[in-house]
Amino acid sequence: MPHNDRIGALPKAELHLHIEGTLEPELALDLAQRNGVELPFADADQLRAAYRFENLQSFLDLYYALTVVLRTEADFTELAGAYLRRAAAQGVRHAEIFFDPQAHIHRGVELDTVVAGLQAALETAPGLGVSTRLIMCFLRDLSEADALAVFEAARPWFGTVITGIGLDSTEIGNPPAKFTDLFRRAREAGLHRVAHAGEEGPAANITDALDLLQAERVDHGVRCLEDPALVARLAAEQIPLTVCPLSNLRLRVVDTLADHPLPRMLAEGLLATVNSDDPAYFGGYVADNFHALADEPALGLEPETLRLLAANSFKASFLDEQTRAAYLAEVAAHRF
Ligand code: ADE
Ligand code: ZN
Repeated sequence: MPHNDRIGALPKAELHLHIEGTLEPELALDLAQRNGVELPFADADQLRAAYRFENLQSFLDLYYALTVVLRTEADFTELAGAYLRRAAAQGVRHAEIFFDPQAHIHRGVELDTVVAGLQAALETAPGLGVSTRLIMCFLRDLSEADALAVFEAARPWFGTVITGIGLDSTEIGNPPAKFTDLFRRAREAGLHRVAHAGEEGPAANITDALDLLQAERVDHGVRCLEDPALVARLAAEQIPLTVCPLSNLRLRVVDTLADHPLPRMLAEGLLATVNSDDPAYFGGYVADNFHALADEPALGLEPETLRLLAANSFKASFLDEQTRAAYLAEVAAHRF
């Protein structure tokens, strides 16, 4: 980041971040070597050159393929530790981090290895000035029965290490209705609930995530603009949307950043936030997303809009009221 970067220094919460999506090519190659895993890429440049995507599925195929390098507790600790250091350097003061347990369990890595590894890294976060939460996501292209089995296996960590559940992976063909029992169980267990919806899938998936899953926050949600009644509801209820501009660009949800719907979402009074999704794959961490937006003249985002987005990120978080208020005061006091 540039020296004296006031956008970077703006305090932010990151609410939509898949820890597996922070696997930088260099770390992937190091871990592959350490674990004796063969990758079909000779070096980091070759690997980075593969980070060109047609749509969500073409990205997911590479994202899941590269998880093979993550095998031990130490691997997960290193992955999350690297993310936390980068996030802290980009002004992230609070991170609600997603992980995909099924992507690891189904290739023979124990749930305990994944959670213990991530937990060890999260314990170092306060030393970096970052508070954290961990959100366990379920792969919507797998069955609900599979999700329920993993959910039950994770119970020992509920409320302490794991504070919420999410729903991610292939949206088209896997609507929220598939996971009503899972989300009911999460509600009964006192866990927070978020769901990807309206990224590639229709606005109806957003409505269903709210009505059928009682999701408290919608990940992406950019296609809500196709349904004016839904927009009115999201605005009235101030339901947070975790928008990921560089992800939308790289996965071709939008053709160019100049076409990004974020300004329209804000104009509609939506509680939209800016997040990085899978920063190693999409060309930037959270402050890089803020910079990309600020540098696109067609979007016309003023510094005060960036401040609003940062404030929204804390409002949309699962922080307690007192901590939230303290962060909001810091955002208000920030000078560009
Ligand atoms: N898993 C990781 N990133 C994702 C995204 N943007 N959409 C759905 N699933 C994902
Ligand atoms: Zn995502």
